Amino acid sequence: ERGEYAHYMLKEIHEQPVAVADTLEGRIAGGKILTQIFGVDAERLLADTQAVHIIACGTSYHAGLVARYWIEQLAGVPCTAEIASEYRYRDPVVKEGTLFLTISQSGETADTLAALKLAKDRPYLARMAVCNVPESSIVRESSLVLMTRAGPEIGVASTKAFTTQLVALALFSLELARAKGLDAARYADGVRQLEQLPGLIAETLKLDAEILELATHFADKQHALFLGRGTHWPVAMEGALKLKEISYIHAEAYAAGELKHGPLALVDEEMPVIAVAPNDRLIDKLKSNLEEVRARGGVLYAFVDETVAHGLDAAHVVILPAAGEIAAPVVSTIPLQLLSYHVAVLRGTDVDQPRNLAKSVTVE
Ligand code: M6R
Repeated sequence: ERGEYAHYMLKEIHEQPVAVADTLEGRIAGGKILTQIFGVDAERLLADTQAVHIIACGTSYHAGLVARYWIEQLAGVPCTAEIASEYRYRDPVVKEGTLFLTISQSGETADTLAALKLAKDRPYLARMAVCNVPESSIVRESSLVLMTRAGPEIGVASTKAFTTQLVALALFSLELARAKGLDAARYADGVRQLEQLPGLIAETLKLDAEILELATHFADKQHALFLGRGTHWPVAMEGALKLKEISYIHAEAYAAGELKHGPLALVDEEMPVIAVAPNDRLIDKLKSNLEEVRARGGVLYAFVDETVAHGLDAAHVVILPAAGEIAAPVVSTIPLQLLSYHVAVLRGTDVDQPRNLAKSVTVE
């Protein structure tokens, strides 16, 4: 039941501290990730993993794109993330030692399931799933499963499923990285960031009133542009998907470095630009994006943490709690969920049941 909340989506947004804590429960002890959560043969599997192919759809695909950065940055293992509907109709080249990894909230998405079935006939090391529904088809078809424990997600727009997927993928990335010789201090720091996440998310949710005010700036807009770099590019993609899905505002996400290669032509006072750049080492580049946007009469909304907010001369700056490389993409997702929620409510759309969409896409 949604209880005090006006919509399931809002309830599910606020459940994230608990959902993330549940997903971590029993998986870390004494500052270490328990390797056996990846199966009885996990140590060998991790050692043998030479590449990772991530396959998913929609929001789950965005989680996969974030994981791709972590897996390459931390573990030094080549990783691709691809949409299931594309993967299933091409002829992917699978080298020895490649792990196939699907991500799905429902475990029933037709394209993801079809890709998984195809993968059975390819020389993958193993087929691992990150999934939220234990009795689902994707879980049944996988040789290895890491469950997210988001609990039932009723809102069509995925929220707590996404952040718990990121947590499960972070556990995997860090453990793979440890097996590949990641520096102990960096590993310990990553694990610590995961342990601090429930508290950090709870703190970020306190921005709700500020975001509600911000939402009034978007309610009458037709378009919005989201920018991010590194792991925050997929976070920007997820922010744009949320906004279009429930508020029906046309939103697009670009890697910030692409701004000048086309989308800048769209920027004017009617096209708000949202930059997600918490404590980026590329913060100076954000400042130059800002000038590009401002010079075209555009309005830039920046979501950054307090370490870089100082001296940032954007029209609107939302300050997020500071977080490291693992926690930051999760933290910066929260305000974007709240923004799309409030914009949709202001526009009077059916937040939990957006037009034309189904919670689980079980047909192609
Ligand atoms: O159940 P799945 O995670 O496999 O679903 C994939 C997509 O259909 C899903 O994430 C969809 O994009 C959401 N409605 C986004 O909010």
